[in-house]
Amino acid sequence: MRFERMEFPEAVETLAKKAGVSLPEFQPQDHKAVNLATQLYKINELAMQFYAEALRTEAGKPAQQYLLKRGISQETIREFKLGLAPDKWDGVLTFLRTKQVSLGLLEKAGLIVPKDNGGYYDRFRNRAVFPVFDIKNRVLGFGARVFDTSLPKYINSPETLIYTKGKNLYGLNFAKDAIRENDCVVVVEGYLDCIMPYQAGFKNIVASLGTALTLEQVRLLKRYTHNVIMLYDADLAGQMATLRSLDVFVEEGLEVKVVSLPEGMDPDLFVRKFGLEEFKAKIFHAESLFDYKLKFLKTRHNPSQTEGKAKISSEMLATISKFKHAVLRSEYTRRLAEELHIREEALLQELNAINPDKPYAQGAHTAPPAHTAPAHPTERLLVQLMLEESELINRIKLSLAPGDFQDEKISRIVSLLFDLVGEGKHIDPRSVVNYLEDESSIKMVCESAFSFEYPQDQKEKVVDDCIQRLKHQKLKNKKQVLHEAIKSAQSAGDQEELQRLVQEFDELIKMYR
Ligand code: CTP
Ligand code: MN
Repeated sequence: MRFERMEFPEAVETLAKKAGVSLPEFQPQDHKAVNLATQLYKINELAMQFYAEALRTEAGKPAQQYLLKRGISQETIREFKLGLAPDKWDGVLTFLRTKQVSLGLLEKAGLIVPKDNGGYYDRFRNRAVFPVFDIKNRVLGFGARVFDTSLPKYINSPETLIYTKGKNLYGLNFAKDAIRENDCVVVVEGYLDCIMPYQAGFKNIVASLGTALTLEQVRLLKRYTHNVIMLYDADLAGQMATLRSLDVFVEEGLEVKVVSLPEGMDPDLFVRKFGLEEFKAKIFHAESLFDYKLKFLKTRHNPSQTEGKAKISSEMLATISKFKHAVLRSEYTRRLAEELHIREEALLQELNAINPDKPYAQGAHTAPPAHTAPAHPTERLLVQLMLEESELINRIKLSLAPGDFQDEKISRIVSLLFDLVGEGKHIDPRSVVNYLEDESSIKMVCESAFSFEYPQDQKEKVVDDCIQRLKHQKLKNKKQVLHEAIKSAQSAGDQEELQRLVQEFDELIKMYR
């Protein structure tokens, strides 16, 4: 599941297929819906073949010419299964009727449209057809573009049982391996904005198809990478609504950067005009959402006036408050205070007001927040294992320090456990609670005593796994913090500090590899 970033059923199916094992048929509640879905995939598949074939015929010549003129190669046409919807009212309709597909099903697939006075006609006519796939390469629907400047430029499949816009990302089926390899994905808007960079060799790219990204799409991407770069044209990237929609990434713990292209450019035009290397350079210089948004807001509101400062800071704090990591929240708040020349305390107050669940304590010795987020599962699991099996404490002690645990409560418990084991004390939950003062830590230890026990022979394996995970997380956080520090040193022009930080960053990356 982890290597292929699959959900459980998908992982089982894949392994079963590899091993030639037949799985018992999955039997969900709604037989009809599953049956219908299967039929719709099948119909779309046939329609796709029909469109692809139409492009290869004599009547497809002008369409071929058009795609050629746009720089799309034969190979790309094949790979993306592009096609032609013929200039007829009953192209796909007649074809699928001869395949015994009922009109009702064709309508449910969104391929035909009922006429007012009875009968049906093809939804897509005289257009270039772009099949939309899901990550299993099933055809969900189609987009179809005119060959000239007539409107509407695109016609898309309607929402159907199998096609819900906002649940899918165009091109993800082609891009997923490259996304994982590069640990990063570029999100663009349109079909050709995705296809053209891909054809040029930039394969970790997907398209949102002109709609704002949804939580589902963000989570879909999260299966493959935590680094997202939004590449929109200048107009869209500079819209408040677009910028706000990117907070979802932050909330989901992904790192999001933004690149905007010059006025009148889109990724398709850009790679064709300037080539792959320039395109990569653009991506490489993506700005963090924080920087991008701040810069944009400064062009909108006057940062040297009180009014402007208030507007900018409240928009920025909306994003900052979404960061899960307290260190990042505090770091960004500090930088925002610096940029706007306002007191950090004022911002922190605002931040706490937006986000009472994630208070950021001022000063080092303030009491821990009343409502803490649920404890980190990996860290919790380690505590549980240490309490179950005191032998494991030494094993963990070799690789991790209490400070490596992000959850403050857990970090204190771990520190206590390390001390106790160092003093040769007997460890069990009952004795450990005697050393603890705060209610919630006591509760956590007690709960551990009652939770599920791992089989003896798996404990070490689980511990090692958890250690790896925490180490990885630690390096990642460090990297992010350093990255920000480097940027501030850069904007402050502090060469000495910058050099020191960059060296530190280099060393960290070596460790990370
Ligand atoms: N779109 C759509 N319907 C429209 C216009 C746009 O569904 N009438 C969607 C398409 O998915 C399109 C994306 O929004 O790819 C971006 O639109 P736009 O930038 O206008 O088109 P391009 O993708 O740049 O198409 P082209 O380069 O062919 O003009
Ligand atoms: Mn375009």
